Amino acid sequence: MNQAEISSIVEVHRLAFGKAEGDDIAQLARDFLDQADTISISAKRDGKIAGNVMFTPFVFRDHPETKCYLLAPCGVSPEYQGRGVGKELMETSIEHLRSIGADAVFVLGVPTFYPRYEFAPTDKETPYPDLLTVAEAWMVLELSAGSVQKLSGKTTAIPPIMHAHCWDTSKHG
Ligand SMILES: CC(C)(COP(=O)(O)OP(=O)(O)OC[C@H]1O[C@@H](n2cnc3c(N)ncnc32)[C@H](O)[C@@H]1OP(=O)(O)O)[C@@H](O)C(=O)NCCC(=O)NCCS
Repeated sequence: MNQAEISSIVEVHRLAFGKAEGDDIAQLARDFLDQADTISISAKRDGKIAGNVMFTPFVFRDHPETKCYLLAPCGVSPEYQGRGVGKELMETSIEHLRSIGADAVFVLGVPTFYPRYEFAPTDKETPYPDLLTVAEAWMVLELSAGSVQKLSGKTTAIPPIMHAHCWDTSKHG
């Protein structure tokens, strides 16, 4: 990926998440793009990147063989929101994750958006379980049948997002 593309993606997230969160999420997106195993999927409109979603490895320490990902961030430039870009990102990326043999995808996010794509609330732990105050915000999409049920115990995301504030839902509603 070239620098121009990285900058476009980072900017999409900065704008999508607005004044309150934009700078933090943009930095997170930049840090994720530095990691070789990050999956980054973009949707274009009018020849430019209108939306982007990323997936990074998410590990259940007692079940390292189960191939899980964390979905974050997912953002669409305000000028393109509400026009099907988010839907395209979700559908394209889920298809890709299935094709590479992923077992499950976890997300801490808007409880009204992700269930459209068959994500459902989960009782598995976030890396900071005590900070999950909005239980329905922590969701999973199972991609290989039976893979999620057997998961339990402590979880780890990649270093850029292993900070308590990233998992504190009392701050984000
Ligand atoms: C949430 C977001 C990614 C959705 O992308 P989008 O391009 O605006 O969504 P689409 O136009 O593809 O809409 C897809 C469906 O989701 C619905 N939807 C869109 N945003 C939604 C939201 N915030 N909450 C609930 N539903 C939403 C749409 O009504 C649409 O439903 P339909 O298929 O029944 O018509 C985008 O609005 C965004 O970047 N928002 C700000 C950042 C954010 O909140 N990211 C997710 C945080 S976890």
